[in-house]
Amino acid sequence: MRETQGRFITLEGGEGAGKSTQVARLKELIETRGHECIATREPGGAPGAEMVRKLLVEGPAERWDGVTEALLHFAARREHLRTTVLPAIARGAWVVSDRFADSTMAYQGYGHGIDRAILGTLYDITVGAFRPDLTLILDLPVDTGLARAASRRGKETRYESLPLDFHERVRAGFLDIAAADPERCVVIDATAAIDDIARAIGDALSTRLGS
Ligand code: TMP
Repeated sequence: MRETQGRFITLEGGEGAGKSTQVARLKELIETRGHECIATREPGGAPGAEMVRKLLVEGPAERWDGVTEALLHFAARREHLRTTVLPAIARGAWVVSDRFADSTMAYQGYGHGIDRAILGTLYDITVGAFRPDLTLILDLPVDTGLARAASRRGKETRYESLPLDFHERVRAGFLDIAAADPERCVVIDATAAIDDIARAIGDALSTRLGS
């Protein structure tokens, strides 16, 4: 990637891992290091993608099957990339996204059992060769995460209402993804205190992407 281009950093993990807090902390850190930074999220992060988000995160768990979900997530993702992420990176901004395509692999692939090769093909079709420069996977036990998430959710309960074994598969999926792509991914212990997690993320940023 050319020096004049920005960077794309993704935060991933199961329910209640504290990603949104850490996205805000990471944005501050990147700005103190002198870069323009935007924080965004998936599903969502662009007007059309936020409309798709509502379809995905509200309502009963059985509203969609895994294939439809994967297609909706990739549709939202393409819109997010086209209107938010890629223009920002092209002008030199750093973009921090609360979730990206590893979530589709973990939730729809490992969680719902959709063929991972098919998800890879959907990635190629909708995203192409573009990849995050760094992915931080916030890992914590499923019961801890679900308890945290339950205490603060409004209407966005569709995924949380899926059974515990679904969420265990998602967690194992994220750890598998990290193990398979250690150059891009760093696993962070999300049971630690907020400041300690932020420090671990800052260290990963310095080590992997320089200052
Ligand atoms: P959030 O709660 O982190 O904002 O994410 C919304 C839900 O969407 C969360 O339960 C995980 C789920 N999700 C997927 O299942 N697949 C995806 O590709 C993405 C981006 C999110």
